[in-house]
Amino acid sequence: MMAVFAKEGWVFFVNRCPHAGGTFAEHLGNESEVVCSLHRFRYSLQTGQGATGQGDFLRIYQLIGTDELVEKGA
Ligand code: FES
Repeated sequence: MMAVFAKEGWVFFVNRCPHAGGTFAEHLGNESEVVCSLHRFRYSLQTGQGATGQGDFLRIYQLIGTDELVEKGA
């Protein structure tokens, strides 16, 4: 699990790209999106939705309380 500080606070996601299993280890992005270091696919940190044309999404989790992660939109 990887955590980054986004516009809305801390968000979490598995460090495995839904496209072909690359990693987000370098977090090539900004406060609103994360970019895979392998093929540069982009995902919203708010919704997990892939950029236009990708047709995929990254599961995004948020912290509830002090120790529970819940998938956003689930
Ligand atoms: S593996 Fe992430 S964009 Fe291809």
